[in-house]
Amino acid sequence: MAAQVEWERKPKGLDANLKDYETAYRTFRWEDVEREFDWVTTGKVNVVHEAVDRHAASSRKDKVALYYTDLERRDERYTFEDLARLTSRFANVLKRLGVKKGDRIGTFLPRTPELYIAILGINRIGAIPVPLFEAFMEQAIQDRLENSEALACVTTPALKPRIPRRSLPALKCLVLVGDEGPLSSDEVSYEREMASASDRCEPEWLTKDDGLIIHYTSGSTGKSKGALHRQYAMVGHYQTAKWALDLRDDDCFWCTADPGWVTGTSYGIYGPWTLGVSSVVLGGRFDPDRWYQTIQKYRVTMWYSAPTAYRMLMSAGEAIPKQYDLSSLRHICSVGEPLNPEALKWVKKITGLAPHETWWMTETGMQLICNYRSLDFKIGCTGKPFPGTYATVVDDQGREVPPGQLGHLVVKPGWPSMMKEIWNNPSKYQEYFRIPGWYASGDSAFKDDDGYIWYQGRADDVIKTSGERVGPFEVESALVAHPAVAEAGVIGKPDAVRGQIIKAFVALRKGHQPSEPLKKEIAEFVKNNLAAHAAPREIDFVEKIPKTRSGKIMRRVLRAWDLGEPVGDTSTMEE
Ligand code: WT7
Repeated sequence: MAAQVEWERKPKGLDANLKDYETAYRTFRWEDVEREFDWVTTGKVNVVHEAVDRHAASSRKDKVALYYTDLERRDERYTFEDLARLTSRFANVLKRLGVKKGDRIGTFLPRTPELYIAILGINRIGAIPVPLFEAFMEQAIQDRLENSEALACVTTPALKPRIPRRSLPALKCLVLVGDEGPLSSDEVSYEREMASASDRCEPEWLTKDDGLIIHYTSGSTGKSKGALHRQYAMVGHYQTAKWALDLRDDDCFWCTADPGWVTGTSYGIYGPWTLGVSSVVLGGRFDPDRWYQTIQKYRVTMWYSAPTAYRMLMSAGEAIPKQYDLSSLRHICSVGEPLNPEALKWVKKITGLAPHETWWMTETGMQLICNYRSLDFKIGCTGKPFPGTYATVVDDQGREVPPGQLGHLVVKPGWPSMMKEIWNNPSKYQEYFRIPGWYASGDSAFKDDDGYIWYQGRADDVIKTSGERVGPFEVESALVAHPAVAEAGVIGKPDAVRGQIIKAFVALRKGHQPSEPLKKEIAEFVKNNLAAHAAPREIDFVEKIPKTRSGKIMRRVLRAWDLGEPVGDTSTMEE
């Protein structure tokens, strides 16, 4: 019998949107969800219609869609009607610039209302947003804008210097938000263009298969890859937001993720707004006081965040949450990495609620394995497949393994928000289907006797640091660009707060001596070229990076070095 957590504040799932998981799982059909969308009858598809315009034309028109604050200078609210007007204006700005259906447009902005307006304005004309996380530095921006061949990028004067215009021939124009200074001929001011644009713009009508958004993410080899999602993904966003996040019309929802990552769009934009639910966005840096203050200020009812944030709140102590009223909360979920029982119990202690796991990936577009309010809760367990999807654990040949046995966590292809392609890289896309018949997540897991899935870790070399996915190759490439570095190998090292930290092994070029200042300089170099979260927190100088005879870095050996353990079989290692 599953150990039910008796400490749920409300009786188990009685008032949940999904009341009976097992029955729903047996009878579920995506066709029934499709009927919730206007395009089923009109045949005209555009997520902006479903997430904004239809609410703006209904009794929800004056309902607040977006509450925004940075708790300092800005404190704003936007109704669905406001969003309809503003995203139309922005769509018209883009049209004036010659942007068309299918064009890729970067958004490189801090978390402000303009970011949300830009993304939906891009969607309105059927172009494809490419969100770029605010902390990215030049190399990361170049990789993504180059690969996506973005035609324009919406940014700010402060972030603009990180966009290497000269090495991005496809990038024709910048839209600058908050610009006061003079503009060059290939720049326009967001404010000035918005002021003169019409606030009416019918969405570009698309098909279910047309592009929705590209999110870049890291793999274990090569540069970051762009997962292209299709319009049809909205069906998955909608239903998971309803059943896993348990969103209701009267909720005040706070998804803490930045739209630079998939969580910040699937559940910061498309999920809640296709449901017509009010969403909170907090701008600025992470800070425990500001976070609790946000919950109190907006009387947040549903909170979706990540283990690393819960752990940082935990390490800031109990005295802070005691100063705030958190009693509005009724449901909490978690994503990005497993939530350790200690952090889970701590959140439960300060809010009365246990965060429910949601497992998914950039490539899956939507939550796939979750703990639902109406399902018996097992601490540390990832959960069960979302109705209408099938996730399981298999061996190398794709055969399901018996309960308790470790294997590859896989999903049966064909759920609504499965990525359509890896942009410009069909062979990378194919790699996800290397196990016949399945989408391979790259995670390992086991199933228990009750059919619950337990995530056990990544099976590849992808690093998860503070919930963010970092590819070792990207960091290694950034490291070897430093003049003192000859070779570099990067691994994830277990860390209590961040899950993993990035650890680099570095072999120096002749004429350079190992030193503490040099370590700092190299870390700083990666931070300034790639991104702060991708910079190594630990660097060890070594003579040589262990490689196979074919030149592949042996991270297994690096991990053993890190732990001071024997390196095991090195027969494939080069001399
Ligand atoms: C990887 C995907 C899409 C959400 C943000 C992360 C790990 C994600 C969980 C969870 C254990 C998790 C997996 C997955 N992961 N959620 N609830 N429990 N692990 O997206 O950056 O594409 O990373 O995050 O390893 O493969 P992402």
